[in-house]
Amino acid sequence: MRKWLKFVSIPILTIIILLSFYFYTAESRVKGPKQPILFSHKIHAGDNQIPCQYCHSYVDISPVSGIPSVQKCMGCHSQIAGKDVEYDYDGRSINMQQEINKVKEYWQSKEPIPWAKVNRLQDFIQFNHRRHIRRGIDCSTCHGDVANMDVVHRVHTFSMGFCITCHQESAEDKQELAQLRDCLTCHY
Ligand code: HEC
Ligand code: HEC
Ligand code: HEC
Ligand code: HEC
Ligand code: HEC
Repeated sequence: MRKWLKFVSIPILTIIILLSFYFYTAESRVKGPKQPILFSHKIHAGDNQIPCQYCHSYVDISPVSGIPSVQKCMGCHSQIAGKDVEYDYDGRSINMQQEINKVKEYWQSKEPIPWAKVNRLQDFIQFNHRRHIRRGIDCSTCHGDVANMDVVHRVHTFSMGFCITCHQESAEDKQELAQLRDCLTCHY
């Protein structure tokens, strides 16, 4: 009985290990989290030069920048069906038209696209885009050259040092320096 078990379990285990290895490496070839639609920032913000704030419109008026709604996408994609060509999406081949069709499916079923988050600060940290954008800090300072990324991915871990270093360098006077270094500015 035991011998029989050993005979079956070894090949089965091997298959499981090989399969998980395959999926693990296939997954890790893409830099960001797994997304419902393989949306390219390079095509939109780079090649077609759509301004960041056209899509992330709340970035300078609200604490959160927000991800655009399906309605915003359809503002263009009700007309733009996309070329029926393969595109090298960071090492993975996708068909532009098929990928755009997925957007239309969400629109037809009136469902939001469940985008996975790329950057997330822990809950005990306060962050506000508006103050930074109004001060003229470029998106790329914190997010890297997004217009050249197919897959948007984290470029900074947003450690305390990353935030405070810039706060120290940008303070205009002693009073602001004290404010920007105060623990309660970022933690409360
Ligand atoms: C056509 C609309 C569009 C434009 C233009 C656009 N984005 Fe995005 N952005 C999105 C969508 C949709 C997502 C969510 C999907 C994803 O993460 O790829 C996103 C995600 C992001 C994220 C990650 C969000 C997170 O979860 O942390 C960052 C950072 C970002 N965009 C920055 C930029 C910057 C910087 C620009 C300009 C260079 C830009 N975006 C231009 C639509 C757009
Ligand atoms: C201002 C116009 C505009 C808006 C808004 C827009 N797109 Fe696009 N999109 C384009 C253009 C132009 C292309 C390139 C089509 C081509 O070359 O065939 C494209 C291509 C695509 C593609 C295929 C290439 C790729 O990125 O994988 C997808 C998918 C896509 N868009 C999804 C979206 C989603 C999702 C949104 C909303 C978050 C959105 N688009 C908003 C103009 C727009
Ligand atoms: C000073 C650094 C900094 C700058 C400048 C900055 N960001 Fe961010 N961004 C962050 C941090 C930190 C987060 C994560 C916030 C969180 O988890 O609360 C974030 C998150 C985001 C998200 C995801 C928000 C969401 O609703 O899920 C988007 C989209 C984004 N940024 C776009 C932009 C765009 C577009 C610009 C330029 C107009 C920009 N950011 C400028 C630091 C910055
Ligand atoms: C590239 C420079 C830079 C980086 C990086 C940066 N900040 Fe700031 N931050 C500033 C400046 C400048 C101000 C002052 C803006 C104003 O009010 O004019 C500020 C203001 C703030 C404020 C509001 C302060 C107040 O008076 O209430 C908070 C909160 C904050 N930052 C948190 C963060 C956090 C958290 C991070 C890291 C994830 C971060 N910042 C990264 C430059 C930066
Ligand atoms: C400019 C914003 C900012 C200021 C000011 C700031 N912190 Fe932080 N702090 C952060 C961020 C961002 C993290 C998250 C670090 C991470 O996740 O790696 C953090 C993490 C921490 C942690 C958790 C330990 C860890 O590494 O995860 C402690 C404790 C802490 N801060 C204490 C303080 C104290 C005490 C002060 C005042 C002397 C202070 N912080 C001022 C942004 C700030």
